[in-house]
Amino acid sequence: MGSLSSLITVLLVMLVVGAAGDPFACDEKNASTRALAFCRVSVPIAERVKDLIGRLTLEEKVRLLVNNAAAVPRLGIKGYEWWSEALHGVSNVGPGTKFAPPFPAATSFPQVITTAASFNASLWEAIGRVVSDEGRAMYNGGKAGLTFWSPNVNILRDPRWGRGQETPGEDPVVVGKYAAHYVRGLQGTDGSRLKVAACCKHFTAYDLDNWNGVDRFHFNAQVSKQDIEETFDVPFRMCVKEGNVASVMCSYNQVNGKPTCADPNLLKGTVRGQWHLDGYIVSDCDSVGVFFSNQHYTSTPEEAAADAIKAGLDLDCGPFLALHTQDAVKKGLLTEAHVNGALVNTLTVQMRLGMFDGEPSAQPYGHLGPTDVCTPAHQDLAHQAATQGIVLLKNAGPSLPLSPRRHRTVAVIGPNSNVTVTMIGNYAGIACGYTSPLQGIGKYASTIHQMGCVNVACADDKQFGGAVNAARQADATILVMGLDQSIEAETVDRTSLLLPGHQQDLVSKVAAASKGPTILVLMSGGPVDVTFAKNNPRVDAILWAGYPGQAGGAAIADILFGSANPGGKLPMTWYPEEYLRNLPMTNMAMRGSESKGYPGRTYRFYKGAVVYPFGYGLSYTQFVHTLAGAPKVVSVPVDGHRHGNSSNMSNKAIRVTHARCGKLSMRVHVDVKNAGSMDGTHTLLVFSTPPAGGGDWAPHKQLVAFEKVHVAAKSQERVRLNIHVCKLLSVVDKSGIRRIPMGEHSLHIGDVKHSVSLQPATLGNGIINS
Ligand SMILES: *[C@@H]1O[C@H](CO)[C@@H](O)[C@H](O)[C@H]1NC(C)=O
Ligand SMILES: *[C@@H]1O[C@H](CO)[C@@H](O)[C@H](O)[C@H]1NC(C)=O
Ligand SMILES: *[C@@H]1O[C@H](CO)[C@@H](O)[C@H](O)[C@H]1NC(C)=O
Ligand SMILES: *[C@@H]1O[C@H](CO)[C@@H](O)[C@H](O)[C@H]1NC(C)=O
Ligand SMILES: *[C@@H]1O[C@H](CO)[C@@H](O)[C@H](O)[C@H]1NC(C)=O
Repeated sequence: MGSLSSLITVLLVMLVVGAAGDPFACDEKNASTRALAFCRVSVPIAERVKDLIGRLTLEEKVRLLVNNAAAVPRLGIKGYEWWSEALHGVSNVGPGTKFAPPFPAATSFPQVITTAASFNASLWEAIGRVVSDEGRAMYNGGKAGLTFWSPNVNILRDPRWGRGQETPGEDPVVVGKYAAHYVRGLQGTDGSRLKVAACCKHFTAYDLDNWNGVDRFHFNAQVSKQDIEETFDVPFRMCVKEGNVASVMCSYNQVNGKPTCADPNLLKGTVRGQWHLDGYIVSDCDSVGVFFSNQHYTSTPEEAAADAIKAGLDLDCGPFLALHTQDAVKKGLLTEAHVNGALVNTLTVQMRLGMFDGEPSAQPYGHLGPTDVCTPAHQDLAHQAATQGIVLLKNAGPSLPLSPRRHRTVAVIGPNSNVTVTMIGNYAGIACGYTSPLQGIGKYASTIHQMGCVNVACADDKQFGGAVNAARQADATILVMGLDQSIEAETVDRTSLLLPGHQQDLVSKVAAASKGPTILVLMSGGPVDVTFAKNNPRVDAILWAGYPGQAGGAAIADILFGSANPGGKLPMTWYPEEYLRNLPMTNMAMRGSESKGYPGRTYRFYKGAVVYPFGYGLSYTQFVHTLAGAPKVVSVPVDGHRHGNSSNMSNKAIRVTHARCGKLSMRVHVDVKNAGSMDGTHTLLVFSTPPAGGGDWAPHKQLVAFEKVHVAAKSQERVRLNIHVCKLLSVVDKSGIRRIPMGEHSLHIGDVKHSVSLQPATLGNGIINS
């Protein structure tokens, strides 16, 4: 046996080395290709790219404009599949990645909405580092690409969106920070060299999949200049400028009548021109085919190909550009120089990834292999991420944490009580292994398991009897309810915010019968209207776990039994069902309209009742804030040529481009005291409300800073925040111009309020008076 298994090991190692020893291009062992200029590592990348393009025929070039780029055998270049995904772990959604021995699985982190709820930017980056370790290892073994089309940074504009789970929630700054940190984790920070190439998608105003007969392939999003600048552009701008992402993906939908993948103002103008993307622009899968065939945006396919490339598209996920670009050039709709421009962007990224540097094992990440995937440390990070992201919504009594001594027998009930793949949400891979809620709880108590409903649709009450009986006997009852991909998914938007089918009824009946405390645990990506449980005194506590990843059940149990103290906060508003009454998903406007009865969207603009607000989340301990230092007045230096008379500007909103912003920032120091008896982690959220004179167009509040801090019981920590004045205290007017309102801005940090006055200063350099 021993010698057989070591023989198998040797064979496996040979297989891996065999794959890894096969370079993408520029094989050192081949005298006829290794001498080519584009293969010389010492030559600057721009020159290598130029050399390579100079050697290609037009026919070869157009076959490189698509995700399954063709090989160029005469130059020793292999075919490449560009489409891989790594939203929260290496995924097999794209054809570029395959799980097979010696890579049967990868670490499956919580779905992004859960990880976002941790509000821990260093966690986001740490996950990116682990995912790119595993991605590189799989590439070295010939099982994955190096171009991952993740993350999804569209904001969660509408609570029904089936893909809301993939996003970091509804706040543009949180989404942008998530994007920048996750991308840095994925790509590494080794100058222009890339560990893997990330991609921020889907640009832009894409957040409707299929609602009331309107689908994403046909939807024309009507978006105001104000909403573009203030909301939709923010995460993408931060992803490109702060995250230095290597790619942006344009979406299926149209924005104001133009398909995004054919809009030169968006692609060449905004992404490349204003934000200086150093990378390539890729279409969503078959976007070009979609705007030709479904949207009938051009009358011939050649025009569609030409429009896309001229707008700034570099790579087509789909066959369209390979099929029609050559004819577009022949018809004079496009020049070969346009095609070269696209190839410069894709080939540069491939060179930055080291794909033209020969032998992968000799490269910086060449050592990564099967033993670097699903390591105990990686799986532990997946567990930590789930623990940090779970949000405690209700804790009457308090009834939580449960005690393993007093709650020896626990009824574990519900359609999500023993799930595995449900916990990883969509755009996942094959997990290293799972701990379901039932298994996690089983480590702390003996369990009586009852499904209650066959699945989350919960079409009938046939299994209610068993569930009620279990609750009658047990010392505590845990109901694990919620949604899964049958209710919210890509191409599936919800029509209701309530729990599906008879789920509410099951919870109420079980709660009424249970002997001990009843705890409701929810799995979902989007928010759920659980007003019935919030108001029911028999439901003692509510936890939201999102889709908590492979270790989700362990994390849920650790929190329920007090091995971990919950510190997550909701990254999106939980609206009541009535909110949907006058809210077409197709209405993109962020601001409400009283005359139209339209409620507005997200905590920044919606003023009505909520089930739980954005930023909500309880702890087992109590945190107290005190302001330790913040300026009362901040002078904003203004370009003297434009504003000669500062006393006339005091009540105005100055254009950000007219202010000398530089690093002008406001230091806000907050002491966070843990007044309880349990160590805990607190998320400090700082909101600001602009002055009333800041224009009717200002949001009523916006998040300007957040920071996660661990505070031991009975002790205190100081959190030091630096708030960039022009970026974060500015608002956007109706013409889409970002302005800094002068006057009193009000900061809210929990219960603490502080007023800071912004004053224009024609001279000076941003001195802060406190
Ligand atoms: C070397 O590369 C050339 C061009 O790609 C190819 O035709 C030839 O077969 C290669 N030689 C070997 C030994 O692989
Ligand atoms: C719970 O799920 C695990 C893993 O899918 C399975 O092995 C086990 O039998 C399930 N337990 C019950 C009680 O259904
Ligand atoms: C600036 O404007 C104020 C009125 O707002 C006026 O009284 C003052 O004379 C002006 N100063 C200059 C230098 O123009
Ligand atoms: C302030 O400036 C505006 C032009 O921006 C001008 O129309 C207005 O008369 C000025 N007000 C005073 C009091 O000077
Ligand atoms: C943020 O996450 C990292 C990685 O899990 C962890 O080490 C750190 O303690 C977290 N920060 C806080 C304040 O909890």
